Amino acid sequence: MVTFETERLLLRTLKTEDIDSVLDFWGNEEVMKYCAGAGSREREQKAIAFYINLQNEKGFSPFLVSLKENSEVIGACGFNPTENDYEIELIYHFGQKYWGKGYATEAANACINYVRDNLKIKKIIASTDPRNNVSKRVLEKLGFEFMGMKWFEDTKGEEPYFELNK
Ligand SMILES: CC(C)(COP(=O)(O)OP(=O)(O)OC[C@H]1O[C@@H](n2cnc3c(N)ncnc32)[C@H](O)[C@@H]1OP(=O)(O)O)[C@@H](O)C(=O)NCCC(=O)NCCS
Repeated sequence: MVTFETERLLLRTLKTEDIDSVLDFWGNEEVMKYCAGAGSREREQKAIAFYINLQNEKGFSPFLVSLKENSEVIGACGFNPTENDYEIELIYHFGQKYWGKGYATEAANACINYVRDNLKIKKIIASTDPRNNVSKRVLEKLGFEFMGMKWFEDTKGEEPYFELNK
């Protein structure tokens, strides 16, 4: 299992038993309103299985994030694959009560450092719903560059598209 930490957070690879924890954010309408909507238990069980396999095969995935001070699970942050092997997509989703405390930026920075130190990935990309100003701000703080609007087939719309080049 991959684990790493920041000043306030512990990050680790997902396990099958994490289903109840991840439903607090991936199963929450408010958290997922700009990101494909809330998932059912069945959808998120499949997602966890997919991510465990992805981690084993490629060495990256979304990591479960918890607070060091009390072990509470607060969200997930890490990477999805893209159609190209040399680039991956940064994603982050946190329970609503943990927003606005700098956790997303802190977790994402650690995930980016993990990739830089351990994997031969050339580029990290990200996109957001055009209305998701908080996510755009997080990407800006992480050093991502806004590349313009890009068409996405899954959402059938244009989204602000960002890249972080190493
Ligand atoms: C996006 C999300 C991960 C941010 O998490 P977070 O821990 O609150 O983020 P941080 O505290 O690290 O940073 C948030 C920044 O946005 C700023 N911000 C907050 N509300 C804002 C708004 N309405 N408009 C612009 N910026 C805003 C904060 O002030 C902060 O910037 P600062 O440090 O310069 O003050 C969290 O809101 C979330 O889980 N949202 C739902 C899932 C989601 O949208 N994920 C991203 C797309 S896949």
